[in-house]
Amino acid sequence: MKVKIEFLFFIYIVVSFPVFSQRPEAEAISPIREHMNLDDGWRFALGNVVDSSKDFNTGTAYFTYFAKAGYGDGASAPQFEDRTWREVDLPHEWAVELPFSSDASHSHGYRTIGWKFPENSVGWYRKKFSVSTSDLGRKIGIQFDGIHRNSTVWVNGFYVGNEKSGYASSVYDVTDYLNYGGENTIAVRVDATTEEGWYYEGAGIYRHVWLNKTNRLHVAPNGIFVTTEMIGDKAELTVRTKVENQYAKYSTFTIEQSLINADNQQVVSTKLENVILKGNLQNTWYQKIYVDKPTLWSLENPYLYKLKTSIISDGKIMDSNTTTLGIRTVRFDPDKGFFLNGKSVKIKGTNDHQDHAGVGTAIPDALQEFRVKKLKEMGSNAIRTSHNPPTPELLDICDRLGMLVLDENRLMGVNQDHFDLLERFMVRDRNHPSVILWSLGNEEWAIESNVKGARITKTMQEFAQKIDSSRAFTVAVSGGWDNGSGQTAQVMGYNYIVQGNIDEHHKKFPWQCGIGTEESNTIGTRGVYADDKANGRMAATNRMPENVGTESGWKFYAERPFLSGLFFWTGFDYRGEANPLYWPAVNSQFGIVDLCGFPKDIFYYLKSWWGTKPVMHIMPHWNWRGSEGKTIKVTIYSNAEEVELVLNKKSLGKKLMPMNGHIDWDVIYNSGKLLAKGFMKGKMIISEQLETTGIPAQVALSSDRTLFKADGQDVAIITVQLNDIKNRLVPTANNEITFTLSGPGKILGVGNGDPASHEPEQFVESVERLNLDSLHYKLSNNSQDSSQIGENDNNLGWSEAFQKGYGEYETGRYILFRGSFNLDYFTDKTTITFFSKSIVGDQSVYLNGKLLSMDLTEKDQNQVYVLDNNTLHKGINTLVFVGKPFVKKTEWEELNTNPGIIKVQNPALPWKRKTFNGLAQIIIKTTKQAGDITLTATSEGMITAVLKLKSTGVSNVNN
Ligand code: GAL
Repeated sequence: MKVKIEFLFFIYIVVSFPVFSQRPEAEAISPIREHMNLDDGWRFALGNVVDSSKDFNTGTAYFTYFAKAGYGDGASAPQFEDRTWREVDLPHEWAVELPFSSDASHSHGYRTIGWKFPENSVGWYRKKFSVSTSDLGRKIGIQFDGIHRNSTVWVNGFYVGNEKSGYASSVYDVTDYLNYGGENTIAVRVDATTEEGWYYEGAGIYRHVWLNKTNRLHVAPNGIFVTTEMIGDKAELTVRTKVENQYAKYSTFTIEQSLINADNQQVVSTKLENVILKGNLQNTWYQKIYVDKPTLWSLENPYLYKLKTSIISDGKIMDSNTTTLGIRTVRFDPDKGFFLNGKSVKIKGTNDHQDHAGVGTAIPDALQEFRVKKLKEMGSNAIRTSHNPPTPELLDICDRLGMLVLDENRLMGVNQDHFDLLERFMVRDRNHPSVILWSLGNEEWAIESNVKGARITKTMQEFAQKIDSSRAFTVAVSGGWDNGSGQTAQVMGYNYIVQGNIDEHHKKFPWQCGIGTEESNTIGTRGVYADDKANGRMAATNRMPENVGTESGWKFYAERPFLSGLFFWTGFDYRGEANPLYWPAVNSQFGIVDLCGFPKDIFYYLKSWWGTKPVMHIMPHWNWRGSEGKTIKVTIYSNAEEVELVLNKKSLGKKLMPMNGHIDWDVIYNSGKLLAKGFMKGKMIISEQLETTGIPAQVALSSDRTLFKADGQDVAIITVQLNDIKNRLVPTANNEITFTLSGPGKILGVGNGDPASHEPEQFVESVERLNLDSLHYKLSNNSQDSSQIGENDNNLGWSEAFQKGYGEYETGRYILFRGSFNLDYFTDKTTITFFSKSIVGDQSVYLNGKLLSMDLTEKDQNQVYVLDNNTLHKGINTLVFVGKPFVKKTEWEELNTNPGIIKVQNPALPWKRKTFNGLAQIIIKTTKQAGDITLTATSEGMITAVLKLKSTGVSNVNN
């Protein structure tokens, strides 16, 4: 024995890896990694926070899944009957489907979710997927990009983890739990009871889910990190490659990397040979790559390269990984602001929550892109992901479209939980060229203005710098700027100029860079020009006098070169925080565009001073019937030097446009045409005309695209407009529109930007589950005793079933079990399905005395009956099961006592939405089938609109 130990030690020191032999599993390795989308084909049902019987009895077993590995019970068990749940595809969130209540949380938009609504606050998701036997030996992980919130995940009944934060991405290694060559089940319990933010957050698996398969020797998840520096006109790329060797024994390999340009050509390549990594270890290797005269990533030309990394061992490619990157430099200067590629860039940004009309937080990628484009259209160049790490695809879009990102962490703190979340978030996002600055937190009122804030900021910054030292850090602070986080943050994040004296702070902290992390917009409701606070709507009047609002904010930052720029609160309206209003207002009105992305007037102020094209916008509309002869204040947003206003062909004179300003005009109202002409050096360069319209006469539909991808993910964003007979938008029209859709598409949601609307945004089928109540039994010599198998309103002569479990029944005779269920409501459109299980041998089943099936064997697992609506009736219905009692083969055998469950499905109501001040929005998603999609929009007394879209299999649809 002694000799053997010495021998092993000898080997260890000579080749510096331990050889502990293990019996290898049969391996048939597919070498290249797979990143497979798992968004389709989930089942969803609400559980319950307080009543475990309504939470599918999960966690109630004698041995729980915390007690024994693989002991997932209730809805976490693989064999759980989930066909009674609704079918959903991801991204999905259920809060947006819920009704409103004035009792619900103000900050979350009065949706009936949270601690007051335990029946609506837990959602369950389940999905089945298969894994082939050829995957045996690979490493397989399930990646959730974000679940809101407190999610617990099981795979095949094994508890694999819990993530409290609704904004973290998690990867669970499930390699050892899988059934190779068979079916696998993921179960996810999501508990959105506790709010994480003070704004609408949705609930559910609202981001993508992936199945990742790699060789056991692979680049670690998010294991590549590339930073770029310029040395003259040459770029120096520092590439850190973290490799994981999950084999038991050491591996020798080559790391091969090549940089590919946007034309798919290799620019440069590099190799690190004879790398040795011991078994079950990971390590990081550094390499430098030089690129002569690279094309830089910039706002005007967001040029992207790809770094292809291959891990090659024994001449075989074990892993191949692609990282998208941009070559650019970023720098914040305390006196001169922000520099991108050495050039000064003023940050013209907005804060945005992930929240959109119709879909809530479950924003499809194409809708994310629509939102970024809308902000760019206004001349904005930056987004702050307030107040949490974003969906990764948003960053991809910003990389691709040229939008800067202030990427924000959720909660400040210096303990393991905080550091773990901060690290995962930064490691996930640090290759994106769009990310120019990290935010460690926002308005942490308990600490921001005191010494604890100064300490915590410093400690977090020091920790985070080890993860990425190529970017700076900020904290968004709302007061006490000189005494807390503001003392230690590298870049001071000012939330609102009214909260302190920025110039003074800058003087006291001359080493510190500065940015306006939040600044007030001129808030209000789109198309509303008089306050109607009782009904939840506000006119946009907080312009100049109070020194808050879009114009004064922009002027302040534009005038100070030491400030890098600002982020207005907010770009898009969002649900919740209807401040300063309360119920019935449910959504915020801080946005420059509303929840659908329809511009408010202030959009054109910013477009004038942020954009590069001529702008002319007249506010308000010109439909003021009954106000003839009264004075109306007209505001012009434009970047022309001089503006002339003309009413019904009569000039009202010319006015000069102040820099970064606007023009007001008192105009005596008369219906007709109001024309604004913009001049540059005396020459008219742009004009805009408002016309008093007639009453609404027709519905009009237009789409952001007519061709979209049949990939089950792409969406078209459709504007619904009410026009008068001359095709002019009626800016006051609030009429209900009904939508129908045919072809391979699906309506995801509807909205209209009204911050006080309580109309549904989604119309989904209703699904109810009914258990059999009051299960009783009786023994009989006759298997077809018609007096017993029919309906019966009392249990005289029957005994309560399963009082002592199963097994106590007299054999040799027939046994009848009888249970009932109550149908409150059903119509001829209701589908009622019974998912039955055998509780007797040779089972026959009767519904209200009518035979459903006969002589089923115990093993027949697929007993599904769509019940005949003519046999059913409102009130109590009876199911009787007849056969031979089961007999235990061993003392500890557990016989089935569950006769099954009934699913009551009522189809969704027709899709409807009112227009709000002339506009509404409808979002359509493709299925995976190509074909023509027709959307029809009707409204009483109006000409109907029909829109044709084409969903195509062609991968390069140009959006
Ligand atoms: C800010 C805060 C934002 C939002 C806003 C509403 O102070 O950072 O998240 O709450 O106020 O006015």
